[in-house]
Amino acid sequence: MPPIMEHPETYFRQFIPPRSALLKELEEEAHREEIPIIGPVVGEFLFILARVVRAEKILELGTATGYSAIFLSEAFESQRGQLITIENDKKMAQRARKNFQRAGFEKQIEIRVGDAIDVMKTLSAPFDLIFMDIDKIHYNRALPHCRRLLRKNGLLVADNVGFEDADPFNASIYASKAFRMVSLYSFLPLHSPEKDGICLALRS
Ligand SMILES: C[S@@+](CC[C@H](N)C(=O)[O-])C[C@H]1O[C@@H](n2cnc3c(N)ncnc32)[C@H](O)[C@@H]1O
Repeated sequence: MPPIMEHPETYFRQFIPPRSALLKELEEEAHREEIPIIGPVVGEFLFILARVVRAEKILELGTATGYSAIFLSEAFESQRGQLITIENDKKMAQRARKNFQRAGFEKQIEIRVGDAIDVMKTLSAPFDLIFMDIDKIHYNRALPHCRRLLRKNGLLVADNVGFEDADPFNASIYASKAFRMVSLYSFLPLHSPEKDGICLALRS
């Protein structure tokens, strides 16, 4: 087998995607305040996934300052695109709202303040893509709602599935007949943490 890079982590840091001044500012703020955001590599990954499925209706669980929602909204190809993001921390939701205005997405992104599972119960299908990034202990409870809300061939992306708290979710989705799924354990520069798992699951 040909040799792999000697220092792959250093090597792949060269290829962190370019992004706007606002997104860089949110990264610096997250670093200072220890807010766990997805970072530019996973951000770009979400952008590409959302564009590939031509998402027009996206649901995000876990807004924080709005960093990941901005990447997802950049994928909309028309003004019809709509993203609902759920955050249970009122102050964080307020900060995100301001960032959505700064990014020019105030018309396309709606923040719902409350527990993600409670809010999901009030939503109607179909969504094209759901991005799950709340406390990992709640992932398994959110899964039946993801199943109900996603359209056929809609995509569920769950971040941080390398966390121990994600184990019940990982086991449930692996066993579920409602999804075809894969878990990728990867090096993700500037993601919190930099080595973690991401689950991609297609609604059957
Ligand atoms: C990892 S951060 C989200 C980061 C964001 N997705 C990004 O990358 O820019 C998780 C956020 O989810 C919120 N959260 C945690 N559990 C929640 C729940 N059950 N319902 C709603 N929000 C929740 C936290 O307050 C926190 O702001």
